[in-house]
Amino acid sequence: MNIKVLSLFPEILEAYFSASIMKRAVGKGLVSFELVNIRDYAYDKHRKCDDEVFGGGAGMLLKPEPLDRALAAAGSPEVRTVYVTPSGRLFNQAMAADFAKEENLVILCGRYEGIDQRIIDTRVTDVVSIGDYVLSSGEVAAMVVIDAVYRLVPGVISGESLSEESFSAGLLEYPQYTRPEEYGNMHVPEVLVSGNHAAIARWRLRASLIKTLAYRPELLQTIDLTGEIGRLLKEVIDGGGENEPRAANSGGTGKN
Ligand code: ADE
Repeated sequence: MNIKVLSLFPEILEAYFSASIMKRAVGKGLVSFELVNIRDYAYDKHRKCDDEVFGGGAGMLLKPEPLDRALAAAGSPEVRTVYVTPSGRLFNQAMAADFAKEENLVILCGRYEGIDQRIIDTRVTDVVSIGDYVLSSGEVAAMVVIDAVYRLVPGVISGESLSEESFSAGLLEYPQYTRPEEYGNMHVPEVLVSGNHAAIARWRLRASLIKTLAYRPELLQTIDLTGEIGRLLKEVIDGGGENEPRAANSGGTGKN
């Protein structure tokens, strides 16, 4: 997979692309990255890329001409082109998996108040937000999208690690423990050291349900609750036993 990132500040992304697993994936020839400076496609002698918003309003917008030329050179819109902006469709694991199927992907980072709508209408295939908050830099959002996508390219990470993680089955991942088995006066749940793989799988599914119910109950609306999962969920809702796995801060607001 080749990922091209169009940005006015490509240096923000440089360090990220030369880091760890990313470097290994590039070394193995599984993914390649290219940074494109939008300013290199500006027409005028000042290489101006932004301008005021028609109709008034605060801030500046990225002008259409440099973006149009940079995106055309990157193969857009025939190549899947993702524009990251807070006013997009909410990014999730399913979208990441969908993008990971592409041979080529273009990511466009916005700046200031955003970009001229005509570019979105003609060159962008996917308008994506990484969450309901506003970042000062589209580059940070682009890094989030790229990171979620490239690790799903076959061969980058083992399939087993991927199938166990949060969202892969529509649930949050169960709690995990490592040595020592006893820390302070806290013990690792007994079932996890029992060697009984069926019991461990049941405990993990139950723990995932409890955690999802506590932190992200809306996720339960999107999964099939007819079989074992539905039965376990009912059990959990009807009242768990004393040794039930718990989700930390489950009643909280997220504020500490
Ligand atoms: N740029 C600024 N904020 C963003 C967000 N939440 N998602 C995507 N791009 C952004």
